[in-house]
Formats: sequence, C-alpha cells, structure tokens
Amino acid sequence: TGMITLDPGYGNTGSCTSDITFINGEKGILQYRGYAIEELAEKSTFMETAYLVLYGQLPTQAQLSAFEKEISGEAYLHYGMKSHFEGFPDNAPPMAVLSAMLNILSCYNTDLLTTATEGPKFTEPAAKIISKVRAIAAWAYRTSKGKPFMPPRPDLSYSGNFLHLMFSQTFDMYEPLPEVERALDLFLILHADHEQNCSTSTVRMVGSSHASLFSAVSAGVGALWGPLHGGANCEVIKMLTHIHQDGISPHDFVEKAKDKNSPEKLMGFGHRVYKSFDPRAKILKGQVDNVLKALNVSDPLLDIAYELEEMARSEDYFKERNLYPNVDFYSGILLRAIGIPVDMFTVLFAIGRMPGWIANWREMHQQSLRISRPRQIYTGETLRAYTPMDQR
Ligand code: CMC
Repeated sequence: TGMITLDPGYGNTGSCTSDITFINGEKGILQYRGYAIEELAEKSTFMETAYLVLYGQLPTQAQLSAFEKEISGEAYLHYGMKSHFEGFPDNAPPMAVLSAMLNILSCYNTDLLTTATEGPKFTEPAAKIISKVRAIAAWAYRTSKGKPFMPPRPDLSYSGNFLHLMFSQTFDMYEPLPEVERALDLFLILHADHEQNCSTSTVRMVGSSHASLFSAVSAGVGALWGPLHGGANCEVIKMLTHIHQDGISPHDFVEKAKDKNSPEKLMGFGHRVYKSFDPRAKILKGQVDNVLKALNVSDPLLDIAYELEEMARSEDYFKERNLYPNVDFYSGILLRAIGIPVDMFTVLFAIGRMPGWIANWREMHQQSLRISRPRQIYTGETLRAYTPMDQR
C-alpha cells in the first residue's frame, strides 16, 4: 500500500488542482479566476461574480442577462415545500433548516440528480440552488417569526429580492435602500469562493462519491455551520455583545483568549492560510464605516472591534502566531447594520459561497477525479481474542 503520510487537518495536502481561486496567504492575495478581490468588490455584482466563478470568464452583457433571467426564474419554491417548513420548531437553527431543505430540493428534482458539468443538466440545478437558497433562507426566517411567505419579485436584483423575501410586509411595498442592497451584494461577492476550505472540501468529498449536487451543497452547509468556520461570524457578534453588555474590558478579554486553559478564543481572528492579513477583512473594514454612515446608525460594537484589533496587533501572542482579523470579524457588524438577524449570518455566508461550492463540484467532475478516500495510521489494539461476556 506504500507509505502513508500523516497530515492532520490537511494543512500540507493538496487535494486537487484548481483554476478557480488563487490565494497567497503570505501576501494577503485573493483572486477569483485571476481577478483581484479588491477590484471585483468595487466593480462587480454578485451575479456577475457568480457567473465568473462558475464559468471562468466575465460574462458579456448578453450572457449576464441570460444568467440573471435564469436565476430570477428559479426564485420561487415548490408549493409542496411549505409543509416541510411547517414541520420545523420555531427555534430550529436556520443552518439546520437550510441544509435539510437543500437536500429536500433533490426530492423535487429527481431528473437532475446527475454529475453533468455542461448543458441544462448542470446549468439548471446550479441556477436552482443559487436562486432558491435565498427563498429557503427567508422562509426559514419567516417561519420562525410566524410570518407568511413572500412570493419572489423578479424585477429586483439578486440581493434586493433576498431582502424583499426576508423583510417585506406586503408583496409590492418593498423599496430596498441602494446602500443596503449594495452592502449585501458586496458581502456575497467577498464570500463567493475560497479554495479548499472545510466546507468546499466537504462538497468535493461528498460529490466524489457521485452523490448529487443538492446533497453535496447540503453537506457543505453542515461543514460551514461550525464556529471555527462560517459560524464564526455569529460568534464574533456574540463576543462583542458580551464584552459590551457585561462591561468587560477588551484588555481582559484578550488576556483570556491568550490563556491556553480558557476555552475563549478571539473569534474572527486567525486563518489557516492568511498569515499577513485577510484581504476580505480589509475590504469589509473599509466599507463598514461607509454603510453605517449611509444608514445613519452608529454601533458601539464597532468601537470594541477596533479596540480588539489594535490590541491584538500590538500583543506578542498574536504577532508570533500571525493572527489577524479574518473575513468574519467585520462582516457581522455590516450584516447587523443592514438588519440581518444574528442567527442568519452564517446562512448569508452559505448563500454567498454557493457559486464557489458549485464551481468546485463542477471542476472536480470535469477532471474525473477519483473518489476522495484518505487513509489513516492505525494506533489501536493489535489482534486479541474475543472475551466472553462473563469474563469482562
Ligand atoms: N484566538 C486565540 N488564539 C488563537 C486563535 C484565536 N482566534 N486562532 C489561533 N490561535 C492560536 C492557537 O491556539 C495556536 O496556538 P499555539 O501555537 O500556542 O498552540 C496558534 O494560534 C495556531 O492556531 P491553529 O489552531 O493551529 O490554527 P488553525 O489553522 O488550525 O486554525 C482557525 C485556524 C481559523 C480555525 C483558528 O485561527 C480559529 O479558531 N479562529 C477563530 C475562529 C474563526 O474566526 N474562524 C473563521 C475562520 S475565517 C473564514 C471562515 O472560515 O469563516
């Protein structure tokens, strides 16, 4: 069987070759398909970036319009799905609902459970997932609030339609503030892909058994949910709120985060790959202030965040370990400012990451990779005789 190389957490294992996303962790570089994240954040829309990540090129106007039309045509949910939502308790975690409902989409699309990477058998499920994930997220939220479901509005932008599905009181009354719509679009662009992170690797892992795209992305949501991954964006706000409301000094909190015996970590800090800065955090930090000003709100949590960042920058503990704010550190403040409830933050991350997961799934099948099947080094008992019950 040859030598097995042990690499817990896969920090040094390349699991695939990929043309989608480039990261240079030392220099803080992130590019989708060769385009700098800074430029996409400034000039692109989420729909355009989603097309780019999925298909490899910036779309022409005709390609973009066709893609947007396909996405908005899939914005509704099958009426039968209503009963599934009614089965969840009010306090169901929205990430659990999202994962379950993405898998349930397979039940309504049994003709699309293939590994096709071209043609309608790929473009249809891809568009369905990217589009319907919004309605699933919004329906999960509205169910938990006892509110009726809103039918989608195809005249609105991707982000505008999501905000309508979430917050509209009546079908035709929603007027998204352009700043809010743009801030959400920016958030989604920044989350569109991030190479072989835990959830993307999960999507590839599940897809490698030739399970459907629906179940692969459903598993991706499960992986993203954890507080060390996408769940960190909720944890950051909980941490900042705790510091704020309980009057804890940021200095004491940082001391606790440094203590090996304390379970507290500085949430929103550190990254497996970025060792100088996370370019997404830098962009978000730059935008948060603008968005708060445009919305005419101030958030005391932002001052605490600045203070924690300053402190971490000057403390040896963080410098020695190259711990910098990651994408989740400032994103929560942005989402809070535009009215997204905290327990939906990670769901928003999942909506943004959908193009990346689907692009990775597609690329894997285009390359006809083998099933993912890591090995282990066995450290348990050697062969021993079965002990009868009365002798144990
Ligand atoms: N606060 C305090 N200490 C930390 C932190 C932190 N946030 N992150 C890492 N460390 C310490 C860690 O204890 C270790 O110390 P030592 O060398 O003394 O044992 C050292 O830094 C190296 O950390 P690691 O755990 O080996 O790093 P990793 O690559 O396995 O984990 C991470 C990366 C992101 C899971 C981790 O930094 C972390 O848990 N951060 C907090 C959660 C978070 O913000 N996650 C979001 C990640 S970014 C995007 C996303 O996926 O959502």
